[in-house]
Amino acid sequence: MSAQKKQHDALYPVSKSPALKPHITAKQYETLYKQSIKDPTTFWSKQARIIDWIKPFTIVKNTSFKEEDFHIRWFSDGMLNVCANCVDRHLPQRKDKTAYIFEGNEPGDVRHISYQDLYEHVCRFANVLKQHKVQKGGVVTLYMPMIPEAIYAMLACARIGAIHSVVFGGFSASALAGRLDDCESKVVITADGAQRGAKTIPLKDTVDLALTQTEKKTVETVITVKHTGATCPMKEGRDYWLHEEVRHVNTECPYEEMNAEDPLFILYTSGSTGKPKGVLHTSGGYLVYAALTHKYVFDYHEEDIYWCTADVGWITGHSYVVYGPLANGATSLIFEGVPTYPDAARYWDVVDQHKVSIFYTAPTAIRSLMSKGDAFATKTKHPTLRVLGSVGEPLNPEAWQWYYNLIGQKKCPVVDTWWQTETGGILLTPLPGAMDLKPGSVSKPFFGIQPELLNEKGQAIKRTGMGSLVMKDSWPGQMRGVYNDPERFFKTYFSKFKGYYSSEDGARRDKDGYYWITGRMDDIINISGHRVGTAEVEAAINTHSQVAESAVVGIPHSIKGEGLFAFVILKSGEDVLYVFKDEVLQTIGKNIGSFAKPEYIVIVPGLPKTRSGKIMRRLLRKIAAGQVAEIGDVSTLADPRIVDKISEIVVRTFKENT
Ligand code: PRX
Repeated sequence: MSAQKKQHDALYPVSKSPALKPHITAKQYETLYKQSIKDPTTFWSKQARIIDWIKPFTIVKNTSFKEEDFHIRWFSDGMLNVCANCVDRHLPQRKDKTAYIFEGNEPGDVRHISYQDLYEHVCRFANVLKQHKVQKGGVVTLYMPMIPEAIYAMLACARIGAIHSVVFGGFSASALAGRLDDCESKVVITADGAQRGAKTIPLKDTVDLALTQTEKKTVETVITVKHTGATCPMKEGRDYWLHEEVRHVNTECPYEEMNAEDPLFILYTSGSTGKPKGVLHTSGGYLVYAALTHKYVFDYHEEDIYWCTADVGWITGHSYVVYGPLANGATSLIFEGVPTYPDAARYWDVVDQHKVSIFYTAPTAIRSLMSKGDAFATKTKHPTLRVLGSVGEPLNPEAWQWYYNLIGQKKCPVVDTWWQTETGGILLTPLPGAMDLKPGSVSKPFFGIQPELLNEKGQAIKRTGMGSLVMKDSWPGQMRGVYNDPERFFKTYFSKFKGYYSSEDGARRDKDGYYWITGRMDDIINISGHRVGTAEVEAAINTHSQVAESAVVGIPHSIKGEGLFAFVILKSGEDVLYVFKDEVLQTIGKNIGSFAKPEYIVIVPGLPKTRSGKIMRRLLRKIAAGQVAEIGDVSTLADPRIVDKISEIVVRTFKENT
């Protein structure tokens, strides 16, 4: 049996580590899971008490995935305030407890923020927003570094009932402009800059540029946090420094009473078409689900020091840096820098220094640190760690073993959690202390989650098999719509397989009922856990004046998980100088962000198309991965000879570059 196969079959029985204080046993999981499916109303009505309700709900679940009666509502007559749940309700018992430990880019730059501090910062920020005419239902865009002020801003919006739209600080001005236009944001919150390792990123300059590029010109106010000390031009009547604005406001700000189904935030994510979607999440169900999953999946307890390394620009940052942990009154660590600065021991030094007990990161970070050699990871045995988590992309068994053996010292369960921006929280995952672990598998459904695997005909696969991963019924954290585009919601997620939520991922189920994600089934590529639509990259490349057409596919990448391979046809059809490739890379950087730059760009005379003009991406994927021999029959192509021509160019390009 090969080593790879052995790793796949490896099974790590339920951890008996004394460091674990599991909320439930394996047997209790089975019982509770069955209850959650059989009688969701009773189950969720009880679990929803994990948060405080201003007015308790009487209706629990009111959902249907059927086209003729499509609706998703949870706790729909309940009233609450998400910010009050995350901050105010902890004050009586936890006002001096640290809510956040901020670890800055430079080692030694540490700040502790108590729940009382958090309350005051958030109230002041909320009052600043009110002064700038932000009202309930208004959209505020955040373009921020990973600093406490980003969290204050999110909570301030939630406090006054405004909807936040966080745009990851790695997106370009043009990508930011598109998002500002889509949600017609009137206010932007940013910082003078962000520090990421040796680099300083000029966020405010990018906002200024974005505002020259917006079509709708809705932005009236830009509030800037002084962070790096960089000088930035301030436009009179539009631009304000946060530190000056907070001087004039009160430290008290009453919170709005919100309905459970009032919007909490929008988060733009890539879809199969060129335009990103504004995924909309609402208040009550989202918070219940984020809090409950945070508690069970990470075996969270009051005394834990919890560190989720995600940026608040992504859904993981929303659910598991901000809302889930705060709803549970946790102490979280947040980190502005990068895992390799000043060296590849940074994460592990921070874990030891702050006594982190729960650590949640992405496979890319694990693989990248693994590639730097074990010495960085084994300076100590990280005695405080109890639970290790992973999210965003497949955690290959080799990286799983490294994480488990070296970082967790064989005593911390690894929870490989599967979910999406759209799902709001974790759907498939092991539960520490309640489930055996299988490296590479995302294990089993969380409470209330009913996964199914469908074959090509849309029929459910019973027991073992591989198919499209769908959900049979709703859960409280599910997205409620595509902002400003209600039809797109049903069409994207519910029209392909009638009566199901379609995740667009493929998965396999083994004989023990464990799920194994096989990857996206649409044209989305997962680069270092960043979701990038090939259509978006193609649209960016096509903005170059010399480009006639392009096609982008994913290729395996040892660190990033996946990388991009771009095939480009030029208008002139001529061979091109390398300068051109640099220009294409710059174009992508400008239109999307650096993280979406392809590993390879090849100039080709044509693309493999069917007679009806559809690009056969499957063939391009094989060519890009160097698997030409596996291509098979190409007779359905309009010009079958194009496959050989492109393959030759690709082989030549590889040779020239190595
Ligand atoms: O393909 C799956 C992959 O990431 C996609 C969702 O991306 P995003 O909305 O950006 O959310 C990422 C963080 C929740 C999924 O459709 N994915 C996520 N988690 C895993 C995963 N693939 C394999 N294993 C995972 N644990």
